[in-house]
Amino acid sequence: MLIRYKKTFEKIAMGLLSFMPSEKDLKKLQHTMKEYETDEDLQLFLWKEEDIIGLLGVQNHNDKNSLEILHISVNPSHRFQGIGKKMVMELKEMYADKEIIANENTAAFIEKCNLC
Ligand SMILES: CC(C)(COP(=O)(O)OP(=O)(O)OC[C@H]1O[C@@H](n2cnc3c(N)ncnc32)[C@H](O)[C@@H]1OP(=O)(O)O)[C@@H](O)C(=O)NCCC(=O)NCCS
Repeated sequence: MLIRYKKTFEKIAMGLLSFMPSEKDLKKLQHTMKEYETDEDLQLFLWKEEDIIGLLGVQNHNDKNSLEILHISVNPSHRFQGIGKKMVMELKEMYADKEIIANENTAAFIEKCNLC
């Protein structure tokens, strides 16, 4: 299930975020985490089964009634088991009234999810 990020999950969240090709640089990664913690339009979710194994980061565009997926990542040991798609599906259910869009860093995968 998707749960909301809390400061106690910082290390695991940073680890998952670092799998994004755009977040390989430590300074950039730390800056991104800070943005999620301080910008109220940004929200970080984690996917929890027995452990936390996935991350989904979104930006709320209230003016356009849309939610942009900025980051999506699954622990490499748990990939190709449908978790990435499940995270997107659950997000769509949580925000059924909003249009879910991707950015250039997430479009390749999110477009795939729209087909399922
Ligand atoms: C992308 C990612 C979140 C998918 O998670 P996952 O739990 O393995 O995804 P699912 O099991 O739901 O779906 C697997 C499908 O996604 C595809 N996929 C994996 N990475 C992809 C990518 N970067 N772009 C497009 N499709 C991708 C797989 O090829 C597979 O396709 P298939 O169903 O036709 O075999 C995971 O590979 C990841 O964390 N990658 C590193 C972070 C990243 O690059 N994120 C941005 C992706 S655009």
